[in-house]
Amino acid sequence: MHSPFIIIKKYIRYWFTSSNRKGHGVHSPFVFDFIIHVLNDKKEKACYEKIESHRNKLLKNKAYIEVEDFGAGSSLTKSNRRRVDKIAASSLKSKKFAQLLHRIVQYYKPDQIIELGTSFGITTAYMAEGNKSATVHTFEGSSAIAQLAQTHFEKLSLVNIYSHQGDFDVLLPSFLEASSTIDLAFIDGNHREKPTLDYFRKLLSKSTDETILIFDDIHWSAEMERAWAEIKAHPAVTLSIDLFFIGIVFVKKDFKVKQHFSIQF
Ligand SMILES: C[S@@+](CC[C@H](N)C(=O)[O-])C[C@H]1O[C@@H](n2cnc3c(N)ncnc32)[C@H](O)[C@@H]1O
Repeated sequence: MHSPFIIIKKYIRYWFTSSNRKGHGVHSPFVFDFIIHVLNDKKEKACYEKIESHRNKLLKNKAYIEVEDFGAGSSLTKSNRRRVDKIAASSLKSKKFAQLLHRIVQYYKPDQIIELGTSFGITTAYMAEGNKSATVHTFEGSSAIAQLAQTHFEKLSLVNIYSHQGDFDVLLPSFLEASSTIDLAFIDGNHREKPTLDYFRKLLSKSTDETILIFDDIHWSAEMERAWAEIKAHPAVTLSIDLFFIGIVFVKKDFKVKQHFSIQF
C-alpha cells in the first residue's frame, strides 16, 4: 500500500491533469453524456437516506464480531475479533462513490451485476436499488460480515440480492461457468495485482458489448496501479475512465478508437 503522503501527491497530480466535471475538452459524446447525466447528477434519490441511515447505525455499532481476515490477499490467514463500527469506518465505499454506483446502475440498467467484496452491503444495496429488475450477486469471504449484510438486505426488503459467502478465488470460477453474461461488475476486494487481473480476465470472458467493469482503489498501491495499467491497455478495453478512487472500463466495440479519460470527481 502507498503511504498517505504518496496517495496525496498522486491525488493532487490526478486533480490537476484531469478533465473538469463540466466535460470541457471531452471529445467523446458517450463520456460527455456520462459526465452530465451520471457523474454530475446531484438529485437526491429515494433510497439515499435509508441506506445512509443504515451506514450510520453500523458506524455506531460497538459490537465485536469474529472476522476471518482475507487481508489484501485471497488466502485465509488469521481470525480476529473486530468492532463493527471500526470495519464500517474503514472498509465501506464512501457515500459519494456508492451513490455514483447507484446512478451508473440506474442509467445503464445492467441486468446481471456482480460485486466482489460485500462487506456490510452498503454499495450492494445502492446497486440493487438502482435497478430493481436486476440481479445482484455479491461475494464476501467473512461469514460474520456476510450475515450482517444479509440482515441489512432483509430490512431494506431488497429481494434482488443474492449473497455468496466464501473466497472469490474459489467461488467466482464456478459461478461464472454457470452464468451466461455479466453486465456490470464491481471489484472491491483482494486488491493485489495478480488476483485483480485474474478477476478481470474471468469477467471479460462473460462480457457483452454493454458490460461495465468497475475497479476499486486503482491507485492504492504499486500493484494496483500495475493491474490498472494492464487492464486499460487490454485490447478488449475500448474506453477507460479514471476517477482516482475507482476505474471504470467499457468494452463496447462501437468505440473504434481506444480512449482513456481521467475526470475530476
Ligand atoms: C473494501 S470491502 C468491500 C466494501 C463494499 N463493497 C462497500 O462498498 O461497502 C472488501 C471486502 O472483501 C472481502 N474480501 C477480500 N478478499 C476476499 C476474498 N479473496 N474472498 C472473499 N472475500 C474477500 C473482505 O472480507 C471485505 O469485507
